[in-house]
Amino acid sequence: MTEPAMNIEFSLFGEKLREHCGIIELMDDLGKALTTNPDMRMMGGGNPAAIPAVQEIWRQRAAELLDGNESFDRMLVNYDPPAGNPRFLEAVAGCLNRDCHWNVQPDNIAVTCGGQTAFFFLFNMLAGKFADGSHRRILLPLTPEYIGYANQGISEDLFTAIPALIEEHGDNTFKYRVDFDNLEITEDIAAICVSRPTNPSGNVLSDSEITRLSALAKENGIPLIIDNAYGNPFPGAIFTDATPIWDEHVILTLSLSKLGLPGTRTGIVIASKTIIRAISAMTAVIGLANNNIGQALVLPLLESGELINISKNIIRPFYKGRADHARKSAARAFGHSTPYRIHAIEGAFFLWFWFPGLPICSSELYRRLKQRDVLVVPGEYFFYGLSKPWQHSSECIRVTFSQPEKTVTQGIDIIAEEVKKAYRG
Ligand SMILES: Cc1ncc(COP(=O)(O)O)c(C=O)c1O
Repeated sequence: MTEPAMNIEFSLFGEKLREHCGIIELMDDLGKALTTNPDMRMMGGGNPAAIPAVQEIWRQRAAELLDGNESFDRMLVNYDPPAGNPRFLEAVAGCLNRDCHWNVQPDNIAVTCGGQTAFFFLFNMLAGKFADGSHRRILLPLTPEYIGYANQGISEDLFTAIPALIEEHGDNTFKYRVDFDNLEITEDIAAICVSRPTNPSGNVLSDSEITRLSALAKENGIPLIIDNAYGNPFPGAIFTDATPIWDEHVILTLSLSKLGLPGTRTGIVIASKTIIRAISAMTAVIGLANNNIGQALVLPLLESGELINISKNIIRPFYKGRADHARKSAARAFGHSTPYRIHAIEGAFFLWFWFPGLPICSSELYRRLKQRDVLVVPGEYFFYGLSKPWQHSSECIRVTFSQPEKTVTQGIDIIAEEVKKAYRG
């Protein structure tokens, strides 16, 4: 007897999360290219570099965990409380209070399954449909903004985004600024959200911009969410003197990923106790507890403050070196005749190219580059939530420079060739 054919229908939730989107394409491309095409130059994802000195530290820590077999067994056999391991929460609070002079308590902190999950929780707990029938949204005050937020809303229309002001600096460099004149906190705004350093552009909001955004949020009784996946005090992939901030109305997220530990899926949220309790409850409902391996690996380095030294003295110089090399490679490959621009590289792992008046859209450029074994991310994906089309959004691509220098140089050479061809038509 044959089974009746299955006719699976997805709920609105199911449809929303399985629909084609930038982050799915990006993770798919990355995964496939890694396994099926060894020649692909992987300049698309946000993978951290394999920094030998840092990898050696994680290897040593893993050996220490194995040697002290009691702690290893305890780590594997136990579910942590949903907010995270209590000793880890203490250590994070201690590290932030010492380094940033804050007054954070362990119950201001929750661990999540990576920063990505923290954002899914935060956006959907703060915005969307409310009991009174209202619909609230997350304001992105500086677009382009991180691709990974774009499809996280359970309800439609979760973001409202303001195009960045473009400041031209000469020498083929530009910088985005927050357009405060066009920033209005209307009643339907549930929270303001920025990544700092910003993925994709490598922009770092200045202290005065972040102070102004924080004041705006506070005045309006809404949270300011600051995504610090690349910033200070760790992992330290930031090249300006930006001061990290936290306050009761600020929700700050950190991650162990860019320390070279994305596989441990460890995000950290610093927020008011009300927000932390909600996050902890969501973790319990959705996953019971978090992965505790990342927490165990970094614990003594957080307690001793060594993690800050690693960030300052190894990770920051490493990425600064890669950034300078990538910038020089671009200057050499593009020369003077092609109208390219690169955003000031103030942090993160990316060259954000802008090709003013490019005759093809950035998705077409992405396809042409992929055919030549160079994987980048087309700019379009980073411009969601805008109220009207913006030509700039199809003229940009994001290029990761965390890969080995030779790969980056070859990749940039091919990008320059394809862009020159496209301009020639
Ligand atoms: C700006 C930003 N936020 C959050 C994340 C999420 O990182 P994870 O979930 O690995 O902590 C990333 C990853 O690349 C990112 O670039």
